[in-house]
Amino acid sequence: MSTDTRALLVMHRIRKEYGTGRRTVVAVREATLSLERGVRMVLLGPSGSGKTTLLTMAAGFTMPTDGHLLLFDRNLTHYRNSDLQRTRARRIGFIFQTFRLLEPLSVLDNLVLAAEFGGCGQSEARARAHDILGRLGVEHLSRAVPAELSQGEKQRVAAARALINQPDLLIADEPTASLESNQAKSLADCLSGYVQSTNAALLVATHDLRMLAIADRVLSIEDGVLSASSSSLEQPWRSTTCLPGGTRRAAL
Ligand SMILES: Nc1ncnc2c1ncn2[C@@H]1O[C@H](COP(=O)(O)OP(=O)(O)OP(=O)(O)O)[C@@H](O)[C@H]1O
Ligand SMILES: [Mg+2]
Repeated sequence: MSTDTRALLVMHRIRKEYGTGRRTVVAVREATLSLERGVRMVLLGPSGSGKTTLLTMAAGFTMPTDGHLLLFDRNLTHYRNSDLQRTRARRIGFIFQTFRLLEPLSVLDNLVLAAEFGGCGQSEARARAHDILGRLGVEHLSRAVPAELSQGEKQRVAAARALINQPDLLIADEPTASLESNQAKSLADCLSGYVQSTNAALLVATHDLRMLAIADRVLSIEDGVLSASSSSLEQPWRSTTCLPGGTRRAAL
């Protein structure tokens, strides 16, 4: 486990505008935050407040219009596309609000592909995929294709895919939105346990106040404006590890 306390992600006065001229929408304004290893940060905000925009910028899927963003100590604008793709594949786990599972592939192959992009050989990729699907309670679905899954099942498969490469930075966009209470608790517990056992960092956007139970830090966003509030909430949920089988990379 790494003892490095430097921030994995720094945003300084980040602004994001969509469109041009009269059709410009300012989705995020002057957002500043810093996310260090071991920290579980929860971003709360109503629909349309800018949560997804902030998260997609954090992973370099969307470029800020203005401001500075450091991802793993490097300015986002200094990454070449290929570097960014490789870094994302190996070091970032992203649970998309809309899941973004690859429809023609089975659940297992969705995970195996992600693991191979992350640098795993095929047999290690398959072993990790079975292991993490089991930990999230969806291994029985490994041969199904996404269209055959419920929303909640897709959400857990998307979480499994995000965890498979043992990311340093785990970003989750409303990861419990389609889950009933027990499953939501179990997924939150899994993400939290993963961060605690690996010293990774978690940035999670949600409307779900139950996620506050795992938060070290809580931010609110409204009309694109971030405000910070520190949270010293206890973590009442049992912590389980959702580390896929296989060895943790030396960097952690
Ligand atoms: N690609 C886009 N083009 C234009 N406007 C966009 C685009 N994506 C988001 N927006 C606008 O930016 C604002 C923030 O959207 P965003 O999706 O980040 O909100 P959100 O907090 O994630 O909402 P939700 O809780 O509904 O997922 C909204 O006004 C939205 O309409
Ligand atoms: Mg969103």
